[in-house]
Amino acid sequence: MLKNDQLDQWDRDSFFHPSTHLAQHARGESPNRVIKTASGVYIEDRDGTRLLDAFAGLYCVNVGYGRPEIAEAIAAQARELAYYHAYVGHGTEASITLAQMILERAPTNMSKVYFGLGGSDANETNVKLIWYYNNILGRPEKKKIISRWRGYHGSGLVTGSLTGLELFHKKFDLPLAQVLHTEAPYYYRRADLGQSEAQFVDHCVAELEALIAREGAETIAAFIGEPVLGTGGIVPPPAGYWPAIQSVLKRHDILLVVDEVVTGFGRLGSMFGSDHYGIEPDLITIAKGLTSAYAPLSGSIVGERMWKVLEQGTDENGPIGHGWTYSAHPIGAAAGVANLKLLDSLNLVANAGEVGAYLKTTMAEALGDHPHVGEIRGEGMLCAVEFVQDRGSRRFFSAADKIGPQIAAKLLEQDKIIARAMPQGDILGFAPPFCLTRAEADLVVAGTQRAVKAVLG
Ligand SMILES: Cc1ncc(COP(=O)(O)O)c(C=O)c1O
Repeated sequence: MLKNDQLDQWDRDSFFHPSTHLAQHARGESPNRVIKTASGVYIEDRDGTRLLDAFAGLYCVNVGYGRPEIAEAIAAQARELAYYHAYVGHGTEASITLAQMILERAPTNMSKVYFGLGGSDANETNVKLIWYYNNILGRPEKKKIISRWRGYHGSGLVTGSLTGLELFHKKFDLPLAQVLHTEAPYYYRRADLGQSEAQFVDHCVAELEALIAREGAETIAAFIGEPVLGTGGIVPPPAGYWPAIQSVLKRHDILLVVDEVVTGFGRLGSMFGSDHYGIEPDLITIAKGLTSAYAPLSGSIVGERMWKVLEQGTDENGPIGHGWTYSAHPIGAAAGVANLKLLDSLNLVANAGEVGAYLKTTMAEALGDHPHVGEIRGEGMLCAVEFVQDRGSRRFFSAADKIGPQIAAKLLEQDKIIARAMPQGDILGFAPPFCLTRAEADLVVAGTQRAVKAVLG
């Protein structure tokens, strides 16, 4: 057993943490919390402090922590067969079964599942498949991908480019030239406060049309979006947004990638966000909730229309030159099978819808009248509170005031509750595990109310 102070030192000396202020961390100015164990919605650090995780890790531990059914499935798979690859037609019972289970739950017209490790590599796969598709169809110039400002699609070169958040571009020489960004479907932050929701949707459509006209539809391959903006602020789309956008894409023969890394497998109270909003994807990105993060696994669900062309491509060019050593890793697949069974047997998708709605309603009752709360929003087990300096004129705080991070820190300090200060704007995000009870939701709301009072009065 390591002494705690030694672990602290090793952490500062040896461990490069993602999404962390490196210099502050090395100097010991930021916390280095070491998590030891977890159960249900609670995690516990090595000092024995118990925290209510109202963000399910990074909105991924959807079935909750400490599920023995998934742990045992992983152990059994590791004992029987820890690894074999999936190249040239190989597979395992777990990976084949999981592909079938995914398609049984996916929107109609989806055809096959390609497995990866995380959401970023799955979107990387999607972009490669889109480029391949248009090359096979003899349209080598149709390659650009349209994403939205505030979208989040990963941290790789192409996927970090698709991500529409400044922090992920700055000093990394991103975005790459093939990626274009259009208006975020963020009604609360519309530039023209006089716009109705319907007028704002018309504005988003007009912006998209103008971008397509400027670039030429013959150069644009695909559009990518999350059903509900996640890391960009937890923002459900304005009513009618998706059908309006989809009809523009269809008119210009532009493929639609629906990034369901956060929304897939129940977070909105429906199995997929695509079904929730009536979207018809060509590709769906899945990760997080596929295994509830018990093991790394992601996927690209490929629609019928693309699949036919991919098959044609390999008849013309030989085997597809795309694969990861760990594609369809059996341990991830075994975790996925056990996870999807638990979602069903415990009725967790319905619970996400019901308790998520309760969380949002009680949050609105507790904080809706606060002079610095601009908006409380959410869908299913996703909720956000956005803070403003002045509610009437919708004047935002300066980023330097760090109001969102301050409130998240206060919530942690006072009530031992984890919420996420979203990276752009003063937005406190909640995405608890689907097993959250109403009593636990009450704790989250009461703690948030106290934290807001402590920081903003
Ligand atoms: C919508 C969405 N897509 C893709 C990703 C990237 O997934 P990963 O971090 O597993 O690479 C994320 C991660 O948060 C996400 O929220």
